[in-house]
Amino acid sequence: MTSTAFDDHERLQWAGKAAAYRDSFAALCAYPAGSLLDAAEVGAGVRVLDVGTGTGTVAALACARAAKVTAVDAEPSMLAIAGRRAPDAETRHAILPHLPFPAGSFDAVVANFVINHVGDPEAAVREMRRVVRPGGRLAVTIWPYPPPPAQQLWTTIFEAAAVPRPTDLPRVAPEKDFARDADGLAGLLGRAGLGDVRCDTITWTHRTHPEAWWAGPANGIGTAGTLLLRQDQATIARIRHHYDRHTDAYRDAGGELELPTAALLAVAPVD
Ligand SMILES: C[S@@+](CC[C@H](N)C(=O)[O-])C[C@H]1O[C@@H](n2cnc3c(N)ncnc32)[C@H](O)[C@@H]1O
Repeated sequence: MTSTAFDDHERLQWAGKAAAYRDSFAALCAYPAGSLLDAAEVGAGVRVLDVGTGTGTVAALACARAAKVTAVDAEPSMLAIAGRRAPDAETRHAILPHLPFPAGSFDAVVANFVINHVGDPEAAVREMRRVVRPGGRLAVTIWPYPPPPAQQLWTTIFEAAAVPRPTDLPRVAPEKDFARDADGLAGLLGRAGLGDVRCDTITWTHRTHPEAWWAGPANGIGTAGTLLLRQDQATIARIRHHYDRHTDAYRDAGGELELPTAALLAVAPVD
């Protein structure tokens, strides 16, 4: 199991970005955390592995349920924050598609918006399945495609500012990719050896301050961040102008953004 060009780009993309992630998109990713843990039946005493823990949202919530939590991430700066946020969790460095645990080590394995960041999604799911004990559960979330309005906004803004999409960023190889819809995610889990997969779409409105929503890409988070950091000051000012214009429709009376969004949540028992 080797790392792909996509994985190498992900390592660079997240390097040193934990604080920027915590202060921007972590709040967006937090919404399904409870549903993810419910789907994986994580409660008191359950041994759960949170893969790609980021700044520890899911790990902290699992600790609050008195679960026995292990949290891993590929990015050391994420682990530093996750460790402070979930001090009762054991935190370790690990990079999918390899997890440094014997087979069957956990009652449940969860990954919140992580499978969409790996170059070989099937190998990643297979590896997560390996470390679940027979009778345990595996649950994952990803963003759907086509993107919901919150995420689509960035494409709209860059198009309006006449900033072309980058063509040089590595993509998941077509033979390893899967459709980012309920059937596609369920099919991926099936190919990774899981049966009885259930996949639901969760929808919600993400409420955030306009500066917090801007801060993610402005600090290099995500593809929008990679693109934004490549621009000169004049272009960034032009993008910001279109950001203000296009987010206007989503502002509530107090000036906060109300952004409709959605995630796919898949869960499967491990036999
Ligand atoms: C969108 S963030 C989600 C973080 C967290 N699960 C949450 O809900 O806030 C994606 C995380 O996956 C991690 N990640 C990306 N690729 C990974 C890999 N191959 N192995 C382990 N972690 C990975 C990143 O470092 C980042 O912390």
